[in-house]
Amino acid sequence: MPSEKPFAPAAEQNRDPILTVLRERFRAPGRVLEIGAGTGQHAVHFAASLPHLDWYPSDVAENLPGVEAWRRDAARSNLHPPRALDVLRDVWPEGRFEYAYSANTVHIMHWPAVEALFAGVGRVLAPGGRFALYGPFAHDGAHTAASNARFDQMLRAQDPGMGVRDRADLDALAAAAGLESESVIDLPANNQILLWRCP
Ligand SMILES: C[S@@+](CC[C@H](N)C(=O)[O-])C[C@H]1O[C@@H](n2cnc3c(N)ncnc32)[C@H](O)[C@@H]1O
Repeated sequence: MPSEKPFAPAAEQNRDPILTVLRERFRAPGRVLEIGAGTGQHAVHFAASLPHLDWYPSDVAENLPGVEAWRRDAARSNLHPPRALDVLRDVWPEGRFEYAYSANTVHIMHWPAVEALFAGVGRVLAPGGRFALYGPFAHDGAHTAASNARFDQMLRAQDPGMGVRDRADLDALAAAAGLESESVIDLPANNQILLWRCP
């Protein structure tokens, strides 16, 4: 029976540049908690391309049917059922994860949710674990590209709680959660992956 699968063109465009980084940085076998999985396209692509990882997608409850539709069609044993995880309201998983991954979420989440995201990742990451966060980021109070400045303005006009976040503010949340900044990797379209490590 065909399933209705949500589709985001952006997720199709950025998945391979992100995959290149994950292949390098999520190298050892382990469990990945994805936060804000959206349509589920990334979860399917990364679980298929990185079979040494066990991928655990999560998102707010209303997005789970779409993620589940992608998962069902992919039928991969290393792609696990999506879990309801509103970072502010839901109970975080009990177990430890070697990796956490989130894409294009912190400019959508209001700041208290961004704080909850980092606090939660700090709790669930195993020692030596890594957190990879993809998206557009500002640096020292300045946008890194005119397109990111326009995107930020558009977000804030839509909802003043949203907006492109500054790397320094995210690093402060990461440090408070016990994570160490590891690297910043430039990706196409003025996006980056920020990587933190649990000591
Ligand atoms: C722009 S979409 C990105 C989706 C996907 N990661 C991607 O890159 O295509 C932002 C995602 O953040 C999720 N999100 C927003 N607030 C959240 C919260 N409080 N807890 C968990 N996820 C949240 C949304 O449900 C949505 O899936």
